[in-house]
Amino acid sequence: MTSSTSSRSPRLSTSRALARLFPFVRPVMPRIALGAVSALAASLLSLGIPLVLESVVGGPLSSGDPAQLAWGAAGVLALGLLEAVMVWARRWFVLAPAARVEYELRVGIYGRLQRLPVAFHDRWQSGQLLSRMMQDVGVIGRWLSFGLVLLVVNVITIVAGTLVLFRWHWLLGTVFLVCSLPLWIAGYRFEKRYGALARRSQDQAGDLATSVEESVHGIRVLKAFGRGHHALQRFARQAELLRETELDKARAVGLIWFWLVLLPDIAFALCLAAGIVLIQLGEIDVAALFAFFAMATVLRWPMESIGFLFSFLLDARTATDRVFEIVDEPTTVADPDDPRMLGRVRGALAFEGVRFRYQDAAEGERDLLDGVDLALRPGETMALVGLTGSGKTTLTTLPGRLYDVTGGRVTIDGVDVRDLSLDELRANVGMAFEDATLFSQTVRENVLLGRDDVDPFGSDGEAVLREALAVAQAGFVDALPDGVDTVIGEEGLSLSGGQRQRLALARAVAARPTVLVLDDPLSALDVDTEALVEEALREVLADTTALVVAHRPSTVMLADRVALLRDGRIDAVGTHAELLRGSEHYRHVISSLEAEEAAEKAGEAAEGHVAAAPLAEAGASGPAAPTPEPESDADPGIRDRIDPQKEATR
Ligand SMILES: Nc1ncnc2c1ncn2[C@@H]1O[C@H](COP(=O)(O)OP(=O)(O)O)[C@@H](O)[C@H]1O
Ligand SMILES: [Mg+2]
Repeated sequence: MTSSTSSRSPRLSTSRALARLFPFVRPVMPRIALGAVSALAASLLSLGIPLVLESVVGGPLSSGDPAQLAWGAAGVLALGLLEAVMVWARRWFVLAPAARVEYELRVGIYGRLQRLPVAFHDRWQSGQLLSRMMQDVGVIGRWLSFGLVLLVVNVITIVAGTLVLFRWHWLLGTVFLVCSLPLWIAGYRFEKRYGALARRSQDQAGDLATSVEESVHGIRVLKAFGRGHHALQRFARQAELLRETELDKARAVGLIWFWLVLLPDIAFALCLAAGIVLIQLGEIDVAALFAFFAMATVLRWPMESIGFLFSFLLDARTATDRVFEIVDEPTTVADPDDPRMLGRVRGALAFEGVRFRYQDAAEGERDLLDGVDLALRPGETMALVGLTGSGKTTLTTLPGRLYDVTGGRVTIDGVDVRDLSLDELRANVGMAFEDATLFSQTVRENVLLGRDDVDPFGSDGEAVLREALAVAQAGFVDALPDGVDTVIGEEGLSLSGGQRQRLALARAVAARPTVLVLDDPLSALDVDTEALVEEALREVLADTTALVVAHRPSTVMLADRVALLRDGRIDAVGTHAELLRGSEHYRHVISSLEAEEAAEKAGEAAEGHVAAAPLAEAGASGPAAPTPEPESDADPGIRDRIDPQKEATR
């Protein structure tokens, strides 16, 4: 799902593709225009130098008038100085706008990523998003800061300069122009090849970034299963692909430079030959030929740079395409045009004939949710039970519109959730998930994430925070180094799974939702803590409607009613006792939950012994393993040290 996502948008012409940047460029247009004017001035000044030279060589040099010579030299010097100032001015004018456009684009994409539905994030690898946001936006910024301006100005310079060449003699101008044609062809062909390579390399760089990201996230799993060197092999293969592409790019650049150097030299030689003949025929004088070469020298760099600037243009176009692939993604989960208001919310949550299938579900497979009908009364706690993979998690994502239903509707107080503004919906629906995500912020910020209506450091914020922490049994935060102001998450203090879950739950509670959806949010808690949490939840959220995916019989028993999910439908609804009596499948599900719970309890009881076991195992199996990991190979001394011991214990 990487390169394939790239080719969906219809192909625009390069100019139209790049024109899409205009809204981002508009605010800095004046400065870019001033930069272009400076660049144009610089190049026109450089075109003036050969003209002054011509008059010097034709006039004072042959007449030998020192005063006039000095004036001529001063003129050339002044032109050169002015040109330098203008080059500086161009850089000065365009630097800030480029940084500004990069900033606008990055903030724009980031905002977009926040608005795009979860389904989008399922489809896109994070590395792809990362590389588009950093690398591609960087390319666009650099192109705007000098590629675009130079391309325009160099084309103008070439046209103006060539016209002057024709002024001296049409034959010289023609020879020069004809000789530069292959240069343009080479540049064009280069541009096509390089563009394809640039795109490939950017995609591959995105894949590589994904690999790094995945292995950093999954470092524990990789280590625990000794997969480190497989991951390395995979990474090396991907890096090799990128290396090959980069080499191809470098070869293409090498070849174009060969032509860029050779062709102008041939042109110079031919022009020199033609010029000498023309002088002998008396068609032009030496001064004109001299000035012609001075002009040809001035034009050489713009001529040479054209190929490069074209390829840069293509890079920028590729980067723009990649960036707009994200910008163009439809925000399918969006505010309705004419949102309805809930008014005084009661909190009746209902699923009415809800159907759902994931976008990447196999063709012909039945819908994961195949007509779910379920109504929760205001204030009711409903447990959701079903076998693993039956779609419980999926069902819990629908009320908060993390995904939209593909059929039927979900309603709160009879209003379709798609008719509410997202702000209102999410203020009313609280969620907590099994894999608790915390951000690199303080405990306080993490818990009060959904409450931008209170001042986190004010007394109201403090009250909300304390209550939420109490409900979630998260008193442990006071023992953290800075209490609730300790930074946690990836860049802060690491917390255990159970601690993370409790904070995620506190976050859901702090949001004071009307409808609370909990997907196994207590799975990492021990049984006793879970019971405490549930009791507190029932008390504090007495008027909150709750849909709780249950993974323990004890949770199920605390609920007012239980819904059994089976084959994409609600198979039965009732109290725990009713279902136990009436449903064979329910008894089956509950007995499997009980078996899990028993295993869990056994595990907790044996914890002391278990902790020591892996260490002992690792020590014993390391040297004896048939294919030792490179990690242990890296230090052969370890083997030597362990082996004698092994011999001794035998
Ligand atoms: N983001 C997703 N994209 C595609 N398929 C998914 C996604 N999430 C879950 N599934 C699939 O949907 C099915 C139900 O998953 P889930 O709702 O998590 O079940 P449960 O929570 O009951 O165990 C599974 O077969 C799973 O593979
Ligand atoms: Mg689940």
